[in-house]
Amino acid sequence: MSTVDSQQRVLSGMRPTGRLHLGHLHGVLNNWVKLQNEYECFFFVADWHALTTHYGDAELFDNNVIDMVIDWLAVGVNPGQAALFVQSKVIEHAELHLLLSMLTPLGWLERVPSYKDMQDKLQEKDLDTYGFLGYPLLQAADILIYRAGFVPVGADQVAHVELTREVARRFNHLYGREPGFEEHAVAAIRKMGKKAGRLYSQFRTAYQEQGDHDALAKAQALLQAQQNISLGDRERLFGYLEGGGKMILAEPKSLLTHAPKMPGLDGQKMSKSYNNTLSLREPLDQVEKKISTMPTDPARVRLSDPGDPDKCPVWQLHQVYTDEETRDWVVQGCKSAGIGCLECKKPVIDAVISELEPIQQQAQQYERDPDLVKSIIVEGSETARQSARETLHEVRSAMGLSAW
Ligand code: TRP
Ligand code: SF4
Repeated sequence: MSTVDSQQRVLSGMRPTGRLHLGHLHGVLNNWVKLQNEYECFFFVADWHALTTHYGDAELFDNNVIDMVIDWLAVGVNPGQAALFVQSKVIEHAELHLLLSMLTPLGWLERVPSYKDMQDKLQEKDLDTYGFLGYPLLQAADILIYRAGFVPVGADQVAHVELTREVARRFNHLYGREPGFEEHAVAAIRKMGKKAGRLYSQFRTAYQEQGDHDALAKAQALLQAQQNISLGDRERLFGYLEGGGKMILAEPKSLLTHAPKMPGLDGQKMSKSYNNTLSLREPLDQVEKKISTMPTDPARVRLSDPGDPDKCPVWQLHQVYTDEETRDWVVQGCKSAGIGCLECKKPVIDAVISELEPIQQQAQQYERDPDLVKSIIVEGSETARQSARETLHEVRSAMGLSAW
């Protein structure tokens, strides 16, 4: 697949943190399930990334990887639609990381915001390591090796995708300039045929001379539709549109997930480190118990004390789980002391339970058959490797590393 087609690819990774919770479901996984219908998707367990901060904790990995993939499958991430794999099973990521490290200025890594942030946050770990500094570049390799067009990420990861774009640009700048590029490009235009060739040249001029982005998009679509040119020519023409040389690595875009923040049981963001989560495999009686004992507006000591939903974490769960009519009932009943807090929590409890019930049934099937989960991962890793190898082959030869 050429760089041009691969722009319809989506890639995302998750560190193996073990069992996932409702925050992951609403923040990430529901989005993945949607994306797998619209794009060619690659989703992977970023186990090497976890090693950059948790080296030394060997027991953390194997079970966490399987457990996390079970949760992906249980919520509907479909191995028939998306390649699901584990980073360390696709060693090509490591070679691309190494090769890119040769041309990545140290300063680019040192000024990634998460570098200092995480060092401050994880004081108990020595993160003055080579691997930790290089972790955003490893992420760049994860993305570039599939020439993914889109990377769904949270706001904290946008800087990493930006770095990825810079590295791709630098790589293309250094290695896309083959001798005689211009002549090759002109010959490639001729191969497109008269009509398509003329259109391409018109769009290119409109983009280069008037900055017409519409024309750029049209030219890219035109290239995408071309059957009769080779992969190398396509990359040349893709690069020739914007300037200098062949586009060997594709610049990805972040797809910011716009899910509303998932509140935890205490009203803070749901997160394992706050100990306020409902896990996807939380026993349902525990779900009921945990929500029933959630704190509410402290002003409501007695049933007859009116409250204010804005001061209550349960109200935030209503935003995620209930309809407008129910929420009107909550506001009314809370402010007038017309309903009790347990009564108010009931529709949230019901909604969470009916969301989790089918997920847990699915999860149980996979828990009973870990070999099935492993074979899904092996197969996904094989699919991923095929794409990864193609890119790596081109990267090696562009860098002058011989193919024999
Ligand atoms: N760095 C991401 C995180 O910590 C995980 C990740 C690794 C990733 N490689 C990626 C995400 C590539 C998107 C694309 O959450
Ligand atoms: Fe919170 Fe509902 Fe109780 Fe009001 S009635 S304090 S919104 S739980």
